[in-house]
Amino acid sequence: MKTVSTIADLQHEVAAARRNGKRIAFVPTMGNLHAGHIKLIDVARRNADFIAVSIYVNPLQFGPKEDFAAYPRTPAEDATLLKNSGADLLFTPTQADIYPRGMAVHTQVEVPKFSDILCGAFRPGHFRGVTTVVARLFHLVKPDVAVFGKKDYQQLLLIRLMVVDLGLAIDIIGVDTIRDADGLAMSSRNTYLRPEERRIAPRLFSILCDTRDEIVRAKEIPADAERVAAERLQRIGFRPEYVRIVRQQDLADPAEGDRKLAILAAAWLGRTRLIDNIEAEIP
Ligand code: PAF
Repeated sequence: MKTVSTIADLQHEVAAARRNGKRIAFVPTMGNLHAGHIKLIDVARRNADFIAVSIYVNPLQFGPKEDFAAYPRTPAEDATLLKNSGADLLFTPTQADIYPRGMAVHTQVEVPKFSDILCGAFRPGHFRGVTTVVARLFHLVKPDVAVFGKKDYQQLLLIRLMVVDLGLAIDIIGVDTIRDADGLAMSSRNTYLRPEERRIAPRLFSILCDTRDEIVRAKEIPADAERVAAERLQRIGFRPEYVRIVRQQDLADPAEGDRKLAILAAAWLGRTRLIDNIEAEIP
C-alpha cells in the first residue's frame, strides 16, 4: 500500500491504476480505524480492483462545541491496519488540500431538507460539512464506486442523493454495521465511554431490536413505539436525542402501506453521543 499526502500524488496513482484498466473504489474515513472500516475495504475489494482510502478529520462537519479537537487520531495504528487490509492507496490530505482558499469561504454542498432532520436537527451544519468534504474528495479521487457504513444511515442517504443531484457517475454501496460481540456498533467515539457506560452502551441496539420485534409482531407500528423506546433508554441512563421510525427510502414518516422501515436513534451516554439504527419490515 502506498501513502500519498498531496493531490498531485493521489491523482498520479489513481490515473496509473485507471490506465491499467482498474476499477477504482474509494473509502473515505476520519481515521482511528476499526473492524467496521476494514469491512468497508473488504466490500470495496469485491467491487473494484484498486482501493483508495482517505483519512481526514473534517473540521467542517463538527459544531463549535463538538469534539473536533478530541476526536481520536491514531495515524501509526491506522497505517498498520491498512497495510493488511487490501487497500492500495492511503490519501492523507491536509486542511489546505481540502479547503485551499480557507474553510470559511469554501464552496459548500448541501442536500436541503434531509440535512436538517434527525441528527441534522441536533447538529446544525453537520451534514453540510459531510456532503461538502465528500463532494471535494469525490472530485479529487474520481472513483467508480464509494463505500460507506450503514451505521451513519442518514449520511448514506444524503450521499446517495448528492451523487444523483450532481450527476456523479459513482456507485454508492452501503455496508451493514459491524458490532462488538455484545451488539455495540463499532465507532471511533466508543473510546470516549467510561467502563460503566461501555457496559450500558449495547442496550441502545437491544432496545432498537426490541422495537423492531414489536413492529413485526404487531404487523404495524405501535402508536407509542418511539416514546416507549426513548423512555427505556432514559431509564437505563441514556439521554436520548431522538428515536424515530421512518421509511427506509427517504427517512420520512411512514404512510399507510409503507413496509420497509428504519428505526434510528441518537442518545448521549455521559459525554459520548452514540447513534445506531436497525431496519424493520412489516410482514
Ligand atoms: O463517516 C465518516 O467517517 C465521515 O463523515 C466521512 C464520510 C469520512 C466524511 O468526513
